[in-house]
Amino acid sequence: MVLLDGKKTAEEIKNAIRQEVEDIKNRGGKIPHLAAILVGNDGASETYVAGKVKACEYVGFRSTLLKMTADISEPQLLEQIQKWNEDPDIDGFIVQMPLPAHIDERKVTLAIRPEKDVDGFHPMNVGRMTLGLPAYVPATPFGILQLIKKYGIQTAGRHCVIVGRSNIVGTPLSILLSRNAEPGNCTVTLCHSRTKDLAYYTSRADILIAALGKPEFITASMVKEGAVVIDVGITRIADSSKKSGFTLKGDVKFNEVAHRCSYITPVPGGVGPMTVIALLMNTLHACKKEIYS
Ligand code: GUN
Repeated sequence: MVLLDGKKTAEEIKNAIRQEVEDIKNRGGKIPHLAAILVGNDGASETYVAGKVKACEYVGFRSTLLKMTADISEPQLLEQIQKWNEDPDIDGFIVQMPLPAHIDERKVTLAIRPEKDVDGFHPMNVGRMTLGLPAYVPATPFGILQLIKKYGIQTAGRHCVIVGRSNIVGTPLSILLSRNAEPGNCTVTLCHSRTKDLAYYTSRADILIAALGKPEFITASMVKEGAVVIDVGITRIADSSKKSGFTLKGDVKFNEVAHRCSYITPVPGGVGPMTVIALLMNTLHACKKEIYS
């Protein structure tokens, strides 16, 4: 069994980006600038955004973090998005989700100019990705593809079973892994909450991707011997023995599944660290105008 080390892989890619930024600086080119809006004070969102800002600092990007209170109105948020849409200094920006209930997330997603949508959530980017055109690919699918590439995992002709059909993980992954590309060319089965006899499908997967958000849901009997298992889950479970007050659990019961696998991602340190890489790479593309040229 080989551990898919997302932490180490992310470090390597970050160092390569840092070098590229150094080269841009030396040539007197534009330094990539990522901006983020954080609404309210959800603990997990604060941690994620702080990680994104820290990663920007590490690679030498400029970053702007705008914190807005949870009672901000939808028009106020849309106005800020419009400002950044028109600001040539900002190459790409994100609005951290989830948003308070009184703000329509779909409206917010649609308001961001596709050229600056480094999250890859805008329908223009989703559509372009689906058609195989240059597009910003969402963070988690992008990070998983990088990990598969880095470890030289063969995907062509293999059966990939994805559990979870969210707009930002399961659905885009099902498109990316089934298209005629490398990695890709998988036969994909997309399972979800209405799938009958889930274990029937998961136990036939050469590559199993768990993205349903239910801690330790995937057990040994649901996994084929020799499978590649990628765990997207990161649920916080209260744990008073930890300084943070919680421990992170994946969707896979790691201790009983790991020995059956050819490759498996740990939680933490697997898919998580890879997601920020996507944002950095998308911002670099945005700065170099490589997607919409
Ligand atoms: N909330 C959870 N994941 C993400 C993400 O990738 N981007 C944004 N904007 N919000 C999120």
